[in-house]
This record gives sequence, structure tokens and C-alpha cells, in this order.
Amino acid sequence: MSSKFYITTPIYYVNDVPHIGHAYTSLACDFIARFKRLDGDDAFFLTGTDEHGQKIEKTAVAKGIEPKEFVDKMYIPFKELCSKMNFSNSDFIRTTEERHVRYVQDIWKQLVASGDVYMGKYSGWYATRDEAFYSEDEIQDGKAPTGAPVEWVEEDSYFFRLSAWQDKLLDFYEQHPEFIGPESRRNEVISFVKSGLVDLSVSRTSFSWGIPVPGDESHVIYVWLDALFNYISAVASGQSSLWPCDLHVVGKDILRFHAVYWPAFLMALSMPLPKRIFAHGWWTNEGQKISKSLGNVIDPVALVDQYGLDYIRYFLMREINFGSDGNYSHQLFVQRVNSELANNIGNLVHRVMTFIYNNLDGVIPEKVVISQEDEVIMSLAYSAIDKVRLHVDKQEISAALAIIIELGSACNIYMEKNAPWRLRKEDIDRMNAVLVTLSECIRVIGILLQPVVPGSAAKILGIFNITEEQQFEKIHEMKVGLQGVSGINIQKPSVIFSRLEV
Ligand code: MSP
Repeated sequence: MSSKFYITTPIYYVNDVPHIGHAYTSLACDFIARFKRLDGDDAFFLTGTDEHGQKIEKTAVAKGIEPKEFVDKMYIPFKELCSKMNFSNSDFIRTTEERHVRYVQDIWKQLVASGDVYMGKYSGWYATRDEAFYSEDEIQDGKAPTGAPVEWVEEDSYFFRLSAWQDKLLDFYEQHPEFIGPESRRNEVISFVKSGLVDLSVSRTSFSWGIPVPGDESHVIYVWLDALFNYISAVASGQSSLWPCDLHVVGKDILRFHAVYWPAFLMALSMPLPKRIFAHGWWTNEGQKISKSLGNVIDPVALVDQYGLDYIRYFLMREINFGSDGNYSHQLFVQRVNSELANNIGNLVHRVMTFIYNNLDGVIPEKVVISQEDEVIMSLAYSAIDKVRLHVDKQEISAALAIIIELGSACNIYMEKNAPWRLRKEDIDRMNAVLVTLSECIRVIGILLQPVVPGSAAKILGIFNITEEQQFEKIHEMKVGLQGVSGINIQKPSVIFSRLEV
């Protein structure tokens, strides 16, 4: 029986066009969702756009456009990025959609009714760039800890009784050590909560671009309260069995909103909490912080156009441990792609399959007698599946890919040692056994590569005539042994991964 798996990206602010950071978070979710589907689960993958708040209103006003007209234009590149990057998202939610607005207003009424939201007056610091409030002791040199400029705000405001949830949150973190990952980030959240939670201002009156507070329309609902509920509003009608979510993937900068405010809101509503929140690190560009003012923003669309989608997908997922910070550099990119995709996997596929195509009339041999050495390499291939799964379940995406690359290396060593081109003159039976074994390993590699490089994996599987529908072959149906490939009349192999020039 397949089990459901619900995974989300943060929803992205539409004040600017998407950059590498947005592409990265969504790509990681796409990888995990694709792997889960391959592994027999029913994965639902949600992404979307965060379209309210002061930051967006200010940007629209500066351009002389109405906020609604602005967001209707600006969400489009985010949606297009999904097809450009071959994301397999199941839905795309915009917070300006009716289904979301209605849901948030409903939630608001419940929070007021339960006494968790009350009227007060806010005076304190606000950073529009982060859409976040900061306490006096968080301000350093007149700025937010993130470096964002702050302004002093004094206005009537509704408050969420966050302080009431401090102990319950701490109990929850203790009872559910898997709730926040990685471990180091979990410790940061716990010490933040232990340092004391104050009630959170959850409405604003000084601008109007947001969801109106029901019954008090001079206020708009705080953009983070609005945005976080997208994770439920998107699945509230018809799909409510999807909640609670299995995994929220977020950047390290927005973990506090997800690991403190979000569970507190849900506790106040007596709703189940998400099962896990994982915070990833940030990319730098050639060693420098990425920022618009430095002019070094990386455009994912331009990268894909220049190098091809699968190389970008592979590099972003493989180069750094998911959870750590990492550096984008052209040299690292070329090295990684050439050594692991072109020289290792690409070379293996090309040599074996071209040899069969040219010397065996394109038919993978049948009824071969395999040796112990062949069995060893095949069991390495089959056990790779379980190793990959263990890593994916801990969001260790790079380590999961390393398993596939190690399998490729082992196959290359086996191929060199058994040298089918030499056996062709000496021992045809042995040559056949070696070629079948290598073909089966390549089929396994093709299947395992699907979540990271879906287009190239389809090409590898295409050599075996595995059709478009069958290409999403389920992992549990995969360990079929040599009959997986024996007797297949293969397609003429083309180059799958060509080398990049340095
Ligand atoms: N709208 C909020 C999220 C609301 S979720 C209910 C938001 N949006 S964002 O557009 O500013 O950022 C989205 C994501 O991009 C964050 O997870 C953030 O960590 C990520 N990144 C932004 N710059 C990044 C890098 N340089 N590197 C990696 N990820 C980065 O926050």
C-alpha cells in the first residue's frame, strides 16, 4: 500500500524575480518528492508565492502600480521557473487566491474566539525587508540581526498570545527530537524559545496590502500569519487528509517563523503539527554573499539556458551537504559535472551500450552464466537503493547521490578489469555475462538518477526501450535480476553527459 507524503517549499515573495536561492529550495523538494514517488509513495509537493505585505506594497507603489496588478505580473516568473526546472509540484498556491484568503480569515476568527488573539498597541522595531518584528535587545548598530534596516513602529495592533505557548513548545521539541533538522539548528531554536517569548503583533494598520481582519478592516493580517497557513489552505478542500505535512523545507533565515510561530499558531487551534522542518544553508557566489546591491545575483534561468538543466540540478544537489552553506563557482561546477557525470556515469553508459550496439547487433545477451564477481557488483547495485533511501529520509541529498556515483565507479573498475573488448577474442560466454551484468547495473543507475536528472535518466532508460510511462519505474519492482535486461534489443546510444569546457 502506498503511503502519502506531503512536502512543501516556502512560498516566495514576488517583489523581485526568482534567483538561485528560490530554485535551490524548490529543487531539493522536487528531488525528495520524486524519490518518494519512485519508492512507491503518493507524494504531494506544494510550492507557491507569498503576495501580501508591506515589502510588496512598497515595491508596487515605487513602480506606480496597484499591488494587485503588480503581483499578477510578478508571480508568473515563479510559476515559469517550475517548468523551466522540471519541478514536479502537485499544486502552486498564491496567497491572493480566494481559497487562501477565506481560509486565513476563518482561522483568524477562531483565534479571536479562543482568546489567543487580542487587541493591544504595538511599539517597537520592524524590518520591512524581513517582514519581522525585533525586540530592543536584538537591534545591533541600529539594524536587525539580519542587517536589514528597521523602523520604529507605534500602532494599534492585534496580538497573538505567543508567550502562553513557550513551555508547550519546549516540551514538544523535547518529545519530538526529529521535529527540527539539522540538529545544530534545532539547538538554536530551543535556546531562542528558552530566552523567553513575548506576544506577537499579528496585524498592521499603516498600510493596506494584506488580508483584512474580519470585522475590523482598518487592520490587515500580519503577512507571516497569512503566509504560513498556505500549507493548509492549499489542501483544505478535498485533500485535508494530507495535513499534517511530512516535511517543510525552508532556508535557515526563516526557520524561526516555521519552528516557533507556526507550531504555536497550530497549537492554539488544536491542529496537528507538521512532522519535520528542515532548514538548509545559503549559497554564496564565488565566495561572496549574494545580494542585489553587489550585483552578483545568480539567475537560475540563465544558468539552465547556458549549461542545460540536468547539470544545474545535479550540481546544486550534489555540491554541498543539504543543511550547510555552500559556494557557487564556475570551476567547481565544471569539475563536479565532468568528473561525476561525464567521466564516470556517462563514460560507463556510453562504452557498454555502444559496445553491445556495435558488436552484438544491439541485443543484450540472454541465458548467461554469471560468476561470483558479477553477483557481487549486482548486489552492490541493488543495495544502493536501500542506502539511497536511508539518506533521503534524513535529507542527506548529496550523500544519497554519492551512493550512485560510487556504484558508477565500481562498475567502471569492473568493466576495466573484465575488459569485454578483450574477451570478445578469448571467451564469448564470459563476455556476454559481463555485458549483461553491466547492462543491469546501468539500468539500476538510470532508475536511481531519475529524481536528480530526470531528463538524462530518461535517455539512459530509453536505450533499454523502457517507455515514457515505464520510466518512472518503481524501485520495489526493480530488483528483478538479469531478466531485467536480458534479450532487450537496445536503441542506438547517444552521448548522455558530454564534458564541459573548463
Ligand atoms: N515569503 C517568505 C516565506 C514564507 S513561507 C510561509 C520568504 N520568501 S523569500 O522569497 O524571501 O525566500 C524564500 C527562500 O529562499 C528562503 O527559504 C530562503 O532561505 C531562500 N534563499 C534566499 N537566498 C538564498 C541563498 N543565497 N541561498 C539559498 N537559499 C536562499 O522568506
